[in-house]
Amino acid sequence: MVLKLFLNNVAQAFRETGNPIAENISEMILQLEIGPNIHSNAQLTTPLSLKQALSAPDCHVAAGQLNFIADKLPWTSAKEFRVAPKSFRGNYHFVPIVGPKDLILSDQFRTGIFLQDADTYYPSHMHEAEELYLPLSGTALWQKDNNEFSATKSGQLIHHLPYQPHATWTKDAPMLAVWAWVGNLSPDTYSYL
Ligand SMILES: [Fe+2]
Repeated sequence: MVLKLFLNNVAQAFRETGNPIAENISEMILQLEIGPNIHSNAQLTTPLSLKQALSAPDCHVAAGQLNFIADKLPWTSAKEFRVAPKSFRGNYHFVPIVGPKDLILSDQFRTGIFLQDADTYYPSHMHEAEELYLPLSGTALWQKDNNEFSATKSGQLIHHLPYQPHATWTKDAPMLAVWAWVGNLSPDTYSYL
């Protein structure tokens, strides 16, 4: 039940931000029915940068359970997943955990783990879903709309409105985060700018 422990810790971390959307997601996580096993046919390849993220001094306590389950999660390294710019492909990794078609089913929200390697630029993109990111390790530079990039530390919530363009830039360390979507959960509205 380590996945349940991890999700409980994520729920607590979302709740502690004081953001109303994060608090709602926290409640929905706690109401999930979580089975004892992770069912996935995906090939399991844990990203190399995860160890660095989990051993970083700023690693959030909510990431702790990942030390025990990361190797069992179906990581996608996005080489073919989307029409991502070439410089970005393979340099970010994610596990969708909760959602309409994910490991734990919910039609209300999606949440999962996201890991962006060091020295990687996630180009500006947008989608209809309203989005939260809660970084759990690493200080990345984040941009909304055409504003300046600003450094956001582990534990500081990031909120993207529907169709608000956003980009993420890592420098000397990988950035590990949990993310969540509410609203229109379809990935079909996702596009790069
Ligand atoms: Fe996004």
